Amino acid sequence: RKYTIPYEELGPEKLKELIYAFYRRVDKHPLLRPLFPDDLSETARKQIQFQTQYLGGPNLFTEEHGHPMMKARHLPFRITQDHAQAWLECMSEAMDEVGLEGKFREVYYKRLVLTAHHMVNTQVVDE
Ligand code: HEM
Repeated sequence: RKYTIPYEELGPEKLKELIYAFYRRVDKHPLLRPLFPDDLSETARKQIQFQTQYLGGPNLFTEEHGHPMMKARHLPFRITQDHAQAWLECMSEAMDEVGLEGKFREVYYKRLVLTAHHMVNTQVVDE
């Protein structure tokens, strides 16, 4: 069964802080940066909408953009295990920056680990 993490525990302000802290890192990340548009403000806005509903809050993303279909929305980008790892590192550091801790952080982060690995659509094979 899919369980949700109470959105109320985080709240809209803290979520915004978290996502901005996350994209400040993406903006500087050598592996991630090239995948994203120059201006990350629209990306951050969509991510805030998505995380709101991912955490069990109002369905802001779906209301504006339709069914999330996250794996499908990521198919235009070649996402490897290294990208997933980098994404998660940026998120973990952002969580540190805004002071997320305890059980809430642990459960939230674990769920993001699963989702991030689900987005991997490109395998790198060493020759
Ligand atoms: C969009 C990369 C994981 C949620 C995007 C975009 C890129 C990207 C390049 C397009 C940005 C834009 O055009 O504005 C990645 C990479 C990941 C990853 C490299 C590594 C695994 C995740 C995860 C989540 C997520 C784990 C959610 C938990 C989103 C959302 C959007 C998005 C909500 C906006 C979709 C839309 O344009 O409608 N991602 N992503 N991504 N990503 Fe990811």
